[in-house]
Amino acid sequence: MEKIVSLCKRRGFVFPGSEIYGGLANSYEYGPVGVELKRNIQDEWWNVFVRRRSDMVGLDSSIILHPKTWEASGHVTGLVDAMVECRKCHTRTRADHLIEDYFKKKDEKISVEGKSDGDLDAIINENKIKCPTCGSFDWTPVRKFNLLFETHVGIVPEAQSKVYLRGETAQGIFVSFKNIVDSTRVALPFGVGQMGKSFRNEITKGNFIFRTLEFEQAEIEYFFNPEAVDWRKLFEVWKNDLWKFVTENLGVKKTHLRWREHGDEERSFYSARTEDLEYEFPFGFKELWGLAYRTDYDLKRHMQYSGIDLSYTDPVTGKKFLPHAIEPAVGINRLMAMVLLDSYTEDGDRIFLKLPPRLAPYKAAVFPLLKNKPELVEKARGIYEELKKDFMVVWDDRGNIGKRYYAQDEIGTPFCITVDFDTLEKGDVTVRDRDTATQERVPIDRLKEYIASRLK
Ligand code: GAP
Repeated sequence: MEKIVSLCKRRGFVFPGSEIYGGLANSYEYGPVGVELKRNIQDEWWNVFVRRRSDMVGLDSSIILHPKTWEASGHVTGLVDAMVECRKCHTRTRADHLIEDYFKKKDEKISVEGKSDGDLDAIINENKIKCPTCGSFDWTPVRKFNLLFETHVGIVPEAQSKVYLRGETAQGIFVSFKNIVDSTRVALPFGVGQMGKSFRNEITKGNFIFRTLEFEQAEIEYFFNPEAVDWRKLFEVWKNDLWKFVTENLGVKKTHLRWREHGDEERSFYSARTEDLEYEFPFGFKELWGLAYRTDYDLKRHMQYSGIDLSYTDPVTGKKFLPHAIEPAVGINRLMAMVLLDSYTEDGDRIFLKLPPRLAPYKAAVFPLLKNKPELVEKARGIYEELKKDFMVVWDDRGNIGKRYYAQDEIGTPFCITVDFDTLEKGDVTVRDRDTATQERVPIDRLKEYIASRLK
């Protein structure tokens, strides 16, 4: 993980949040190549799950929704973590993470899922677990805190003006469900996909971009008639789709992935069944993608709280009912952490990111062999400008060729194109492959075709 964190900073993928002010825990900035990688992952998700499917539509709802939304959804009372605070240094931490880390260091396993506040207190006290920051053993009792960020609409912070930054994108889908059904030709079963920022007041530090205060969530609510569709079968179909996306579209090794079903104590308040697709991060197998069968919980609650009829009318039978929903929910930042970790490769002295070319920030880098030969620079510049019309390419004329290869390898650029003196005579260039470090000559007029074919 340290290697990835350092590479990300060195090369402009991810910077610590607000660094010049001493940093802000659990926040990060996505640098010039990081934003490209993140966008490519977002595009891949949107294309696969929304654009290329005929049973899906997209949505972009508000970050600030009517506050009743979060009362109806149950998040105001249900999106809570158990916290303790060190009385000496005022470090606040999640009680379950404190306990898990303590036992992990001793190489012992413990399950804290579903434990009451009193049980967590007892484990901390029996084991005299010390504060990871100052080493004291002086904790406040465990208490619950809500993860929703609160803010106010308008200039006077009164109780009536209180709103929340959304804790998940999903609620926007339920809130707009009626408008989507009324304005489009969707018929069950169909899904609504949405991607955008969600916010949670996470207090546990560390693990890089795995858990952050704000994150790009990509969620789908797949609505169906529970009398016409067996939810268990549909759940399996979604499991396959998610697995395929991670292994084929994102190119992640199957051996680093597994499914894990939530027990009764762990499952969220809204779910009748949840399975997590987990990735083996350096800090253990952890949730990457949650798949939950939310039943008609959300539509029913919003119907109660809003007083608006959210039922669906079957176009054939005319029967009215509340559809059920299966929800695949993932954080794009978590996908990005996984992709970086999974593609990081060391081969002798060489370090490279073996990213699927489609995801790479730059598809190709263009270099003149020598920076001080105007005829090489002019030719290379022309190729760069031409390729830029179709692909994300980068220009590099710093240092020597070896250093340029090194820099491009570290950001995962699949092809490095060098214009040399032979180019001027023969009209071809050297294309060096990131993964094999082999080189071949490719005619300039075939370069676009060459790159396009390798991006498929
Ligand atoms: N709508 C259901 C929902 O939000 P969740 O398991 O709390 O369920 C879904 O979140 C996904 O969102 C997680 O699997 C994870 O990928 C991502 N996620 C949740 N909290 C996150 C955080 N603080 N930072 C980054 N990603 C997060």
